[in-house]
Amino acid sequence: MANPLTIADLKSLAQRRVPKMFFDYADSGAWTESTYQANESDFAKIKLRQRVLVDMTNRTLETTMIGQKVSMPVALAPTGMTGMQHADGEMLAARAAEEFGVPFTLSTMSICSIEDVASVTTKPFWFQLYVMRDKDFVLNLINRAKAAKCSALVLTADLQILGQRHKDLRNGLSAPPKFTPKHIWQMATRPFWCLDMLQTKRRTFGNIVGHAKNVSDLSSLSSWTAEQFDPQLSWADVAWIKEQWGGPLIIKGICDVEDAKSAAETGADAIIVSNHGGRQLDGAPSSISMLEPIVDAVGHKIEVHLDGGIRSGQDVLKAIALGAKGTYIGRPFLYGLGAMGKEGVTLALNILRKEMDVTMALCGKRDIKDVNASILLGRQ
Ligand code: FNR
Repeated sequence: MANPLTIADLKSLAQRRVPKMFFDYADSGAWTESTYQANESDFAKIKLRQRVLVDMTNRTLETTMIGQKVSMPVALAPTGMTGMQHADGEMLAARAAEEFGVPFTLSTMSICSIEDVASVTTKPFWFQLYVMRDKDFVLNLINRAKAAKCSALVLTADLQILGQRHKDLRNGLSAPPKFTPKHIWQMATRPFWCLDMLQTKRRTFGNIVGHAKNVSDLSSLSSWTAEQFDPQLSWADVAWIKEQWGGPLIIKGICDVEDAKSAAETGADAIIVSNHGGRQLDGAPSSISMLEPIVDAVGHKIEVHLDGGIRSGQDVLKAIALGAKGTYIGRPFLYGLGAMGKEGVTLALNILRKEMDVTMALCGKRDIKDVNASILLGRQ
């Protein structure tokens, strides 16, 4: 495919370039994947209102998320093992986001470390925190994010225990990856991916190895990750994290009105309406279907963001119309990265920007800050 035009095009290209177990890792949801699918399909149920003969000149998508300027209201979501979609994946994606003027969020479970990403960027990026049982390790991560001048901490609340993804289990994918003959065959059939991977030293969890107690190699890392996610995490821990961090805080993984109310009480700067891209509780509602009730309940107190299922600029616009101040993409940028490295991430962002801009104009709006429910059919 010479000229990918959509996120779906990038997905097909990534499938051809990335070894199956890593492509499937990105393209999987929990159990039956019903929530993963609903995240995407529920956007299609929302219809836009076509307006004509209104001035469509001088359009702008610029706005802010948690008070920080963004060239459009789309951040890159934190995604684990991004450096397995493409060698040095987190560094490439962070640079693409920086050049584009949108936030990049580095996952705790990234391959490139906080320091690696800081070394190739000039503007602050955001850091996503998983609260592990080892609180010294958590404190150390927070301090490393501060030292790297990260401008927001994204605290993920919906992964106290790991949802089960059948594709990963069938592929024998573990964290960190352990390579069997089947995996080696899958990699051998993706020579360009292998060539890139051979040229980097970053092939394990850079935020963890050499930083967590007694984690120095692949086998110690494996047992550490298995036992460290904290099933006892509570709202009291959020207050502790907020105090330790002292900067802008975003709570990610809210998909219920009562939880949104509790999150708003913490004094965080924003929440992300999210079900982890359908990777945790299969059967949970789609993020977009929960956005409006959550905005109604807490939108006057806290900024509300959304992720999950965004595959076009139209989807972003619909989320903004329903009250989100910003959105995040996970898989769309991973597909771009897997397909074409940094250029592919830029292309994914460009695709969304173009679609958003044209759609906004055809709905009769010129400024993203004026987009509201009036662009949706039946909502005026
Ligand atoms: C994720 N997500 C995620 N979230 C998080 O807080 N920390 C993480 O390490 C990860 N890891 C991760 C890996 C992969 C491969 C995916 C696809 C997702 C969830 C992510 O931040 C976001 O919530 C979803 O990706 C949003 O849905 P879409 O855009 O992928 O549909």
